[in-house]
Order: sequence, then C-alpha cells, then structure tokens
Amino acid sequence: MRAAVWHGKRDVRVDTVPDPVIEEPTDAIVRITSSGLCGSDLHLYEVMAPFMTEGDVLGHEPMGIVEAVGSGVTGIRPGDRVVIPFNISCGHCANCSTGLQSQCETTQVREYDKGAALFGYTKLYGQVPGAQAELLRVPQAHYGPIKVPDGPSDDRFVYLSDVLPTAWQAVQYAGAIDGATVVVLGLGPIGSMACRIATHLGASQVLGIDLVPERLERARLHGADVLDLSAFDDDPQLIKEAVQDALGRSGPDSVIDAVGMEAHGSGGAKLAQSLTGLLPDKVSEKMMEHTGVDRLAALQLAIELVRRGGTLSLSGVYGGMSDPLPMMVLFDKQIQIRMGQANVRRWTDDILPLLVDRDVLGVEDFASHHLPLEDAPKAYEMFQKKDDGAVKILFQP
Ligand SMILES: NC(=O)c1ccc[n+]([C@@H]2O[C@H](COP(=O)([O-])OP(=O)(O)OC[C@H]3O[C@@H](n4cnc5c(N)ncnc54)[C@H](O)[C@@H]3O)[C@@H](O)[C@H]2O)c1
Ligand SMILES: [Zn+2]
Ligand SMILES: [Zn+2]
Repeated sequence: MRAAVWHGKRDVRVDTVPDPVIEEPTDAIVRITSSGLCGSDLHLYEVMAPFMTEGDVLGHEPMGIVEAVGSGVTGIRPGDRVVIPFNISCGHCANCSTGLQSQCETTQVREYDKGAALFGYTKLYGQVPGAQAELLRVPQAHYGPIKVPDGPSDDRFVYLSDVLPTAWQAVQYAGAIDGATVVVLGLGPIGSMACRIATHLGASQVLGIDLVPERLERARLHGADVLDLSAFDDDPQLIKEAVQDALGRSGPDSVIDAVGMEAHGSGGAKLAQSLTGLLPDKVSEKMMEHTGVDRLAALQLAIELVRRGGTLSLSGVYGGMSDPLPMMVLFDKQIQIRMGQANVRRWTDDILPLLVDRDVLGVEDFASHHLPLEDAPKAYEMFQKKDDGAVKILFQP
C-alpha cells in the first residue's frame, strides 16, 4: 500500500510499504477514505524529530471502511463505515472505565513511562503505524472504532477522530460553557473548533487570538470576536489591555491554549529547539528528555490573561522537561489548570448527534484542502508554512 512516511526533519515521502495484516484477535483492518493532517503532525515534522525513526508511517485522524476483523471483534464487521480515535484504548481498564482513555492501562507505553499508545506518533507512544495510508491496522478494535451512518460525506464525521473531541475536552476542562467568558489562543483547527463548541455550549463571549489573517477571519465568520496578535508587537501588556477592553477588567473566566510547544514569539526557546535539531539523534533525544524546553509564549500569555481564580485548559501539546513557569503568578492568582491528550471515546457519544441530521458545528466546510495522499510531502510543507490558506488538510487515499 501507499503511505506517508517520515524520513527526517521536514522530509515526508509517500512510499510503498507492506499491507498491514491482523496480528491480534482484537485487531481490525480498515481501508482509509479520509485522513486528517494535524498540528500534532507538525511537531513530528520538526521539533520532535529526535523521537522519530526513519520509516515511521504518520497520521492519526482517519475514517474508512472495515475490511477485516479479528476473532475478538464483534461490534463492527467488514463493510461498516467507521471513524478511528487517535488514541488506542481498551475500554475496560480502570482508566478507560472512568473516561481517561488517553491513559489506557492496557496500551500504555511503559518503556517510556507514557500514556496510551497513539497512531503514528513516535516511539514514545508505541510507534504504531499511522493512518495517512491506504490501509490501517486498528488494535483494540473491539472498542475504538466509532460506527457512523452511510450517506453524509466523510467531512461530516472524520473529525470525531481528533479535532472534535479534543476541542470539546478543551472547552469542558476550561468550563467555557453556560455564561462563561473565554479566550482561545490559536485558531488552527483545534482552537477554531473550540470557539464553535464554546459558543454552542453557552459561553457568553468567545474571543479568539491568532496572527494568521484567514484563521482570524474563519473564527469571526463563526461568531467569535477576534484579536490579531501581530497588531500588538508581541507585547503581552498591550494584548492584555485589549482583552480587558473586550471582556472586562478582571479578565476571562477561562483561557484555552490551542497553540502548544511551537508558539510564535518565543525567541530563546526557538533557538534551543533548533539547536537540538542539529545535534546527533542520541544526544538530542537525551537533551529533550531531560532539559527540553517549549516555546511558551502562548502559555505565558494565557496565565497573564485569565482572571483570578479562573481556569486554563491546555490542548496544545507540550513536551519540555524543564520549562520555566511563573509559579508566583500561578499561585497568587489561584489559577486552575487542566490539560492532556483528548480522551476521544469519552466525548464522541455526546458529539455524534450534532453531526448526523444537521451540521451543527459547520464541519462540512471545515477542511481548507482535500488532497490525494500522493501530495503528502507538499501538504506538510504547505501546512507548516500556512501557505495557500491551509488550515485543515484532509487526505483522500
Ligand atoms: N490534546 C490533544 O489531544 C491534541 C489533539 C490534537 C492537537 N493537539 C495540539 O493542539 C495544538 C493545535 O493544533 P492545530 O491542529 O489547531 O494546529 P495549528 O498548528 O494549525 O494551530 C496553531 C495555531 O496557533 C497560532 N499561534 C502560534 N503562536 C501563537 C501565539 N503565541 N498566540 C496565539 N496563537 C498562536 C498559529 O498561527 C496557528 O494558527 C497543537 O499543539 C497540537 O499538537 C492536541
Ligand atoms: Zn490530530
Ligand atoms: Zn484501557
């Protein structure tokens, strides 16, 4: 089959690799019809390179048609249309049973002391071959795959794999519902969907912040107020004043960080990230494991903006091991922080009804680009550079 394969930093190619086969009774094989390209893939494309291995198949946001199931899989059968959650979880361990599927005890990657295995996401998360491919082996298929109805286009359902549950969890963890005021940092797919979900769940005011014009415009068209970061000279004080003008002096009840470790406006840390990229793999891997730092501009701004006693919800991914944080401010303002990988199956039953009869969250035209899988090298480059209005790319293998 054809698959998007990681060859090195900023080097993704489409190769012919062996077709996957059923290896365990709880496996399924799914023929992929749509597969998203995510901001998380961009971390692998560049700063997480030390944890990648040449030959890794990328991708974790797929849907498709079941081709085969192992003897232990009874909930789905060949021909079913399914969306596959990006985290691989068993559904019956202590963590899955309490809605912490991203910490599944059955698939946890104990070698690296990490949470549940993920598709296409480095050896830290199990090095499971990913979904930007024609076929996918789905472990734990007795639980993971979400059956969706025939009829509506793939675009209606594919975001159940990641964007929708991630944004939903961001909003729930932020308490950005029922009359709350919320700032969303980053208006990529996750942040822009978080704005829509916060509005849907009753937040009284939603203010999105980014620096890419078409991303700001998309959020505005869907009812959010927006601020263009680039208009403030990277001065957090000026941004804070603008947010206070919009939402009141005390600041927003909730701030969602949908930016993560590669934030714009973090000079020193950017240099450190570039340097680890230049070191030999073993050395940079050790450096990232022990002293790695993230680009923290978005998180620092979030801490600055949120009201006293308010809540920060981080869905942007962080990977630093010794990030300098303003503990005095966090403590003094009594800020609550929640974060983590999305527990996809925890939320999908709540979200699915919003996708079936009517397109409540506007997912039909959420993708900016639909591309053949063969265009993956170009797509990664375009998405990283934010060229050509690329906001969300779906591959159609
Ligand atoms: N927690 C999870 O389970 C989960 C799942 C999916 C994605 N993610 C993470 O969420 C983050 C966003 O993903 P995405 O697909 O939307 O990615 P993306 O890269 O398209 O979006 C990030 C956005 O942040 C903006 N930005 C950069 N610096 C900023 C700053 N200082 N202030 C405000 N905005 C800034 C960028 O212009 C961009 O629009 C990534 O870190 C990704 O890894 C987490
Ligand atoms: Zn993703
Ligand atoms: Zn489990």
